Amino acid sequence: SPKIIIAENTDAAERAAAALIEASILAKPASVLGLATGRSMIGVYRALVAAYAESRISFSQVASFNLDEYCGLAPNHPASFAHYMNEHLFDAVDIRRDQAHLPDGNATDAAKSYERAIAEAGGIDLQLLGIGRNGHIGFNEPGSDAATRTRVVELARQTQDANAADFPAGTPVPDHAITMGIATILEARQIVLLATGAAKADAVFAAVNGEVGTHNPASFLRTHSDVTIICDRDAARRL
Ligand code: GLP
Repeated sequence: SPKIIIAENTDAAERAAAALIEASILAKPASVLGLATGRSMIGVYRALVAAYAESRISFSQVASFNLDEYCGLAPNHPASFAHYMNEHLFDAVDIRRDQAHLPDGNATDAAKSYERAIAEAGGIDLQLLGIGRNGHIGFNEPGSDAATRTRVVELARQTQDANAADFPAGTPVPDHAITMGIATILEARQIVLLATGAAKADAVFAAVNGEVGTHNPASFLRTHSDVTIICDRDAARRL
């Protein structure tokens, strides 16, 4: 069953997630990281950039694979996950740009080639995850089963609404995205899920204590042997 860490505040939760990534890189400088986006991760990347700036870690041998990306946005669109990763991590550390991967939300064969690239890199050592209010991981919305792999999905209305603030006023949130599947995620050797804020408390409770099933995709993490769930007090308040 997952290891659960309840940090005293949001900042400490973000730093705890960053510390696990730092440990992975220290143990294996050529770590293959699975990365996530979302507001929850901004503080994680801030801590990793600080660790790099203080010369505690280098990303020069690291490869990364992001979980997901919107369909239909240019990579330099300010709300794209590619733009987010450049802004919050890649531009500030020494990762090789050709080793920093995101699925291509605009290419027809992107799903298969992404799975192939992960396999060719040797698989993911540590997968960082956030959680949606409905229990989604990546963009695997409720209904996604344990056998799903990288594919194009339709976004839940709730997810579009939750992410609308990332888009300029008047720009609609895309209704499709490309995401690693549950099976893709569960193949990572280590998984770290970070949940902060009261809006995540129900999803975290269902993931940890509810039935394992498609109604809460994060619940499938309980079938993996090395999962750490890091929460702040608000996200953990129903545990
Ligand atoms: C997004 C992402 C997820 C993320 C989740 C929570 O839409 N696709 O990978 O974990 O929703 O985001 P936030 O951290 O902003 O609450």
